[in-house]
Amino acid sequence: MKPSAPPKTFRVKSFGCQMNVYDGERMAELLGEQGITPAPEGEEADLVILNTCHIREKAAEKVYSDIGRLVKAGEEAGKKPLIAVAGCVAQAEGEEIMARAPAVSIVVGPQAYHRLPAMLETATQGGRATDSDMPAIAKFDALPQRRKRAPAAFLTVQEGCDKFCTYCVVPYTRGAEISRPFKHLIAEAEKLVEAGAREITLLGQNVNAWTGEDDKGRAVGLDGLIRALAKLPDLQRIRYTTSHPNDFTPGLIAAHGEVDKLMPYLHLPVQSGNNRILKAMNRQHTAEDYLRILEQVRAARPDIALSGDFIVGFPGETEAEFADTLSIVDEVRYAACFSFKYSPRPGTPAATMDGQIAAEVMDARLQRLQQRIAHHQFAFNQASVGKTCTILVERTGRHPGQWLGKSPWLQSVWFEGEGAIGDLVEVELAEAGPNSLKGLVRHRATV
Ligand code: 5AD
Ligand code: SF4
Repeated sequence: MKPSAPPKTFRVKSFGCQMNVYDGERMAELLGEQGITPAPEGEEADLVILNTCHIREKAAEKVYSDIGRLVKAGEEAGKKPLIAVAGCVAQAEGEEIMARAPAVSIVVGPQAYHRLPAMLETATQGGRATDSDMPAIAKFDALPQRRKRAPAAFLTVQEGCDKFCTYCVVPYTRGAEISRPFKHLIAEAEKLVEAGAREITLLGQNVNAWTGEDDKGRAVGLDGLIRALAKLPDLQRIRYTTSHPNDFTPGLIAAHGEVDKLMPYLHLPVQSGNNRILKAMNRQHTAEDYLRILEQVRAARPDIALSGDFIVGFPGETEAEFADTLSIVDEVRYAACFSFKYSPRPGTPAATMDGQIAAEVMDARLQRLQQRIAHHQFAFNQASVGKTCTILVERTGRHPGQWLGKSPWLQSVWFEGEGAIGDLVEVELAEAGPNSLKGLVRHRATV
């Protein structure tokens, strides 16, 4: 490739999970330190980072169509953007990307973002740079301090996965489980709060596997970290995602009943309601184990909103086994769920299992499952009507004078009247829709 002028503007496009959103923000801050600024809305950027997701085939293939679109848009605007591919596709298919997409100058895996400036230098000199090493914690130490001003912020506390569910690429793309040190996390949370965050969502592929040593040198789990964060006076709300049933501790369950700032919402994936399928998935828990945890969490915090992930059409799944998934959805009465068709991922054990399910069967099962999920979500929203709760205002609504925020149960709530992003507003939930609620303002507090 020909040498090019150093980029002045950038755009980061993050796909997939919230951990990518967090990484995308950190990369943006890093580029900011290099004097590269976000491209104005509607303008082609000099540098585009595609922060990719590899979890399902559709997500992974998207990167190639996006690259094609970027090249075309660049040609039309009379420029050639530097294209960097980051995230899990970069980790898993780095060489393939370099071979298939000559327009790409940089391939950078999720643990190597701090090396972006050096890679950019190579790229502007006309070279191509790849880095998909996995030295875990180094990335967090090397990234610049947080400068984010959003009221709801993400904080990655744990990365990676040692569980090896047979369908999943995460243990290969994000590597082994690592926990960031307690004191780094408290320091980063303090910075986020100073910069205006009122809510922090702790992120990790297995966030409840987080362990560390607190400021007194005591071994603590995620509940200890949550209790320490709850002491930050201006931090009002704490959430965490995603958890694994086998890492759920009595301490974390107790925290749900005892820590007011811990929001009454739990995302705990189960994937299937059938024990034979759970075994084939290598989940290492049964449907009953899962339900027992939810029962305990509900006992600690009766109003908790529950959410889960489901996969339909895992190899060999029979109609009766799928029906067990519908049953668990009815039994739990989730407030929200994510559901997916099984997607065979290269290199995972399930991809070569017998009994791969036909696409039409998966489509039909997904539709039936999503109907059940939508039914319970709407019922949960309807049951919230009449409750008074605090909304953290995150953005303006569709019409002037409308504001949008999240309830403690992570429902989207809109209201009319005066407001500002970052306000905590007490509303009465007045009307429920399938995906959002209308609130009537009772009291406003700017914190
Ligand atoms: N096919 C379909 N869904 C998957 N997930 C993970 N791997 C696959 C796959 N191969 C889903 C799981 C997980 C969520 C993040 O993505 O439900 O919890
Ligand atoms: Fe993937 Fe299973 Fe690990 Fe979750 S627990 S990231 S589904 S391997």
